[in-house]
Amino acid sequence: MIKDWQRLDEKYILPTYGRMSIVVDRGEGMYIIDEKGNQYLDMFSGLAVNALGHCHPELLETLQHQSSRFGHISNFFYNKPAIELAEKLVEATFPGKIYFANSGAESTEAAIKYIHKYGKDKNREGVVVFKNSFHGRTLGALKLTRMEKVQQDFPAPDIPVYELAKEDLVELERIFQQHEPAALLFEPVFGSGGVQVISVEFIEGARKLCDEYGILLCMDEIQTGIGRTGALFAYQHTSITPDILLFAKGVGGGLPLGGILVADQIAHYFKNGDHGTTFAPNPIAAAVGKRTIELLEENILQESKEVGQYLRQQLQQLQEAYPDIIGEIRGKGLMLGVETLKNSDQLTLEFLHKGILVNVTNGNILRLLPSLIIEKQHVDIFIKEFREILQQW
Ligand SMILES: Cc1ncc(COP(=O)(O)O)c(C=O)c1O
Repeated sequence: MIKDWQRLDEKYILPTYGRMSIVVDRGEGMYIIDEKGNQYLDMFSGLAVNALGHCHPELLETLQHQSSRFGHISNFFYNKPAIELAEKLVEATFPGKIYFANSGAESTEAAIKYIHKYGKDKNREGVVVFKNSFHGRTLGALKLTRMEKVQQDFPAPDIPVYELAKEDLVELERIFQQHEPAALLFEPVFGSGGVQVISVEFIEGARKLCDEYGILLCMDEIQTGIGRTGALFAYQHTSITPDILLFAKGVGGGLPLGGILVADQIAHYFKNGDHGTTFAPNPIAAAVGKRTIELLEENILQESKEVGQYLRQQLQQLQEAYPDIIGEIRGKGLMLGVETLKNSDQLTLEFLHKGILVNVTNGNILRLLPSLIIEKQHVDIFIKEFREILQQW
């Protein structure tokens, strides 16, 4: 007998999420298959977590291998997979040291504590963030998240936070001078805030100002990281490196893992006992994460860039054909936002009826975050169905 999962979910799980009416049986590459055998093309990959799709055979092999050696071991021992992943991440980015966490919000919390330690040393306090930014939902991270709908009236810790309304280097310098904050923290491409790309000019200008005033430049690459934008991390599209890089989502290749990478020159602020967690870094997640980066480097990242360009071109053609319904198309690589001028919840449902899973954020932005293994044939299926939906609107 098939269980009534919807009823059981409602009975036993707090309703903090609305769900699509799919009971997942399994995932295969770009597809999710429900318990009735229906197949859905997954265009948001667990919100940018399944970088290599569902159940990638090489990742399964790594997972099985590591699970048969050891799973959790605590932080009292040397954890080879975690050390190897840290080495891989540092070699692929900039010289520094890593603190591992389990999730995005935990990575933000670690960054807040790090910034606090730096600030105490330099006699600075607080963080500059963008209006409408998203950095997580735990209370510290929530204080930096500037989306009213998410923030609500939850108690906020006493961290001075200065909000930058838009990319404005003059205003940023004014805040630096007036408030003497310890850090600037931003997403290089807003995720939940509607797939807004921060310009290279702003990022490079902000780096200069941070250097001039002795302020940490921190990048939240929790969503943009692990190849999403066509580079391993989005800052790599610019000429700068951040002082602190926040990562999570895809870094565990589908398993929970996050953390911060702190540049060598400021890597002395966390000492024994300053921060910690029981679970992270989970050795299985670390091993799978390292294998994910290797596979990206071998060829998947390059191929995903080409498919990303193709997807964008196809979307632009749809935009030209339906300018009354489709607004701006923005984003980078395989992190694309399509502004729809009609009710997007309806759009999600219509895609679902056509066997395609999409996500909508910030009200009316169709946020496409497919796995990086996506091929042109999947783009063609998606575009064909999108066109049919638009024709019937
Ligand atoms: C940019 C960014 N920062 C932080 C977070 C929080 O990550 P998590 O949901 O794993 O706590 C997210 C999640 O969507 C994110 O996109």
